[in-house]
Amino acid sequence: MTTMTPGQLTEDVLASHSGTPDPRLRELLAALIAHLHAFVVQTRLTPAEWQAALAFLTATGQICDAERQEFILLSDVLGLSSLVDLVNAAPGATESTVLGPFYVPGAPRRAPGEQIGRPEDGPPVLVRGRVTDTGGRPLAGATLDVWQCSSNGLYDTQDPGQPPYNLRGVFATGPDGRYEFRTVRPVSYPIPVDGPVGDLLRAAGRDHWRAAHIHAIISAPGHRAVTTHIFDSDNPYLDRDAVFGVRGSLVKPFEPAGPGDPADVSYVVDMDFSLTPAESAPAGAVDKSA
Ligand SMILES: [Fe+2]
Repeated sequence: MTTMTPGQLTEDVLASHSGTPDPRLRELLAALIAHLHAFVVQTRLTPAEWQAALAFLTATGQICDAERQEFILLSDVLGLSSLVDLVNAAPGATESTVLGPFYVPGAPRRAPGEQIGRPEDGPPVLVRGRVTDTGGRPLAGATLDVWQCSSNGLYDTQDPGQPPYNLRGVFATGPDGRYEFRTVRPVSYPIPVDGPVGDLLRAAGRDHWRAAHIHAIISAPGHRAVTTHIFDSDNPYLDRDAVFGVRGSLVKPFEPAGPGDPADVSYVVDMDFSLTPAESAPAGAVDKSA
């Protein structure tokens, strides 16, 4: 019997998974094992460090509940969420970015132009534009599921002072692909740092602020949904967003409302979205609007 080596152990573990019937799961497990084992060998991970890592992951799970999703936050701050978005990007479509931990399905359907916030949530903003396919043809009946934080930097799910579904709504495009909705100017907010992810950020000496943004999931029948943001171009965190979510094409000016704009808004944002046909999605792509 020869002495076991790290390389032999890795081969044994890989071999024990080589009969996984589902081919995609087999591929994922093989790559995961190979990379995890290589990480341990490269860093010469100590037992104490391994235990600390398991304790960290355990704490990450234990702080999760129906509204607190620390694993998404962990994925976000490590850039994994953004990386998954990037490798699944649909050429020609609006750039996607992170879903984040604050999405709540089932937001109310609202009429075109309806205000999703309250006066105390911030200065009123009109967001308007078109949803088209990548050829510029308007998509009628596309939906925009939008959500954002209030002027205190909190989402309704974090803030007992906000009614349920405050600053959330689902809007549909008209026959010309046009949409508009009223919201408030979003603010930068700190991601939650009272859990394990906060400990990680402090250990790394990192910022914990998000560049101000409005979330949107754009969907249309026969097209691939895009999960994205609209970023405020006048924001100091665009180049150091805690979750690596900023894309240049998503940064838009919040223009002061002019003479031709509705009198009840302070700012106007023009943002068009484009979607690719569903069949052009790469294998394994996940439709996050589901
Ligand atoms: Fe957000």
